[in-house]
Amino acid sequence: MAQLNLAVVGHVDSGKSTVSGKLLLLLGQVSNKEMHKNEKEAKSQGKGSFAYAWALDESTEERERGITMNVGVKYFDSKKYKVVLLDSPGHKDFVPNMISGAAQADAALLVVDGSHGAFEAGMKGGQTKEHSQIIKSFGVKQIIVAVNKMDVVGYSKDRFDEIKDTIGTFLTRSCRFEKSSVCCVPLSAMDNQNLMSAPSDDRFLSWYSGPCLFDAIDSFQPPKRESEKPLLMPICDVIKASKGQVSAYGKLQAGTLRNGLKVRVMPSGELGTIRSLERDGSQSCSTATAGDSVAVTLQGIDVHQVMAGGVLCDPDLPVAFARHLELRVQLPDGAQPMLIGSPLEFHIHHAKEGARVVKIAALLDRKTLQVAKRLPRCLLANQVAAVEVVLQRPVCAVEFSKCRALGNVSLRASGKTVALGTVTRIIDEAK
Ligand code: GTP
Ligand code: MG
Repeated sequence: MAQLNLAVVGHVDSGKSTVSGKLLLLLGQVSNKEMHKNEKEAKSQGKGSFAYAWALDESTEERERGITMNVGVKYFDSKKYKVVLLDSPGHKDFVPNMISGAAQADAALLVVDGSHGAFEAGMKGGQTKEHSQIIKSFGVKQIIVAVNKMDVVGYSKDRFDEIKDTIGTFLTRSCRFEKSSVCCVPLSAMDNQNLMSAPSDDRFLSWYSGPCLFDAIDSFQPPKRESEKPLLMPICDVIKASKGQVSAYGKLQAGTLRNGLKVRVMPSGELGTIRSLERDGSQSCSTATAGDSVAVTLQGIDVHQVMAGGVLCDPDLPVAFARHLELRVQLPDGAQPMLIGSPLEFHIHHAKEGARVVKIAALLDRKTLQVAKRLPRCLLANQVAAVEVVLQRPVCAVEFSKCRALGNVSLRASGKTVALGTVTRIIDEAK
């Protein structure tokens, strides 16, 4: 069965964790015992409505604040896929964590809150738009929009149609998703309507004839895998084990891995040997191919040389480690103007670094990407441009044309996404 990495994204409190928790419970991936325990504890803290979300929000701070902070990773099988569910935080302070999850996604589930005012808040300056643009910039082409909390609006068809039109227009016109790759599903995670099966009776969604959420997941096309290409695995997380061994976690973006294989660990450039491999969180295996989320245990390497933000590569084809890059960027809807010299946070796969735009080489036509104006003084919302950035310290980078996942970037400042883009050229490589 093919693996599908599904990022659950959307504005804070839209119900991402509750939808995810409920699905996992219905699929038996969360036991009734654990659910009862969560219900009891959530209630005693006056947070009863968050009981399902607690299946994903496992840390004390997440539970106390009633928000997701880190990407929660869970697994379930649909009829067609081994689904890796990446439940992202919606709160604006945790967009960098959301980006880290988005970088691994093959498809997205965008959860919007259907209640009056809440959907609108997510669209106007909220994270519904920001997350959609980030997801698209990471090369995700297929998206389901779950219009959640339909219970609050009395399962109104008019409300659903209104939201479907607004979000549909935004996703196809501003984010450039294909119309045929966007699917809207009305549901209520609270009332358990339209998650795993069609609505239970005519009081709910009697006007709706499309798939329930679970079936909609199977309408995604299988993601393309780059197993034949040289090895590339960006490291998301590292756990140092005993006896000089270290485990690197991440999604294998290109190539294959097997026990005993030698890999080059960038940026240190040192070689390590694969001691063991795990897939899907804990299943040990002897090989892994592009698209798999894996834990790779290495030996024969200084454990301090393996770090998040690094990349496992083919020994003969290490990725560039660079400070000066040429990018093609687009400023999102509502973004502040971008000027030369302003300080930015640069995000690429699982690495983050301080940066400055040193040159705005050209404004490009949005459709043809031809040069429309050379050396403009600044960039405005929705414009596309070729720019150069210099980072405080080098990062591992690959041109987008060579690898989608390692050539995608986002630029942020003061807690906001100011531009999304791709690496078009590596200008100087650090030694
Ligand atoms: P962040 O991770 O912090 O961005 O939030 P989230 O999108 O994961 O939302 P979460 O699942 O934590 O739910 C937020 C609140 O919405 C909780 O109080 C839920 O009980 C409530 N909620 C979720 N789904 C529904 C629903 O279908 N109907 C109603 N009425 N409330 C819901
Ligand atoms: Mg959440």
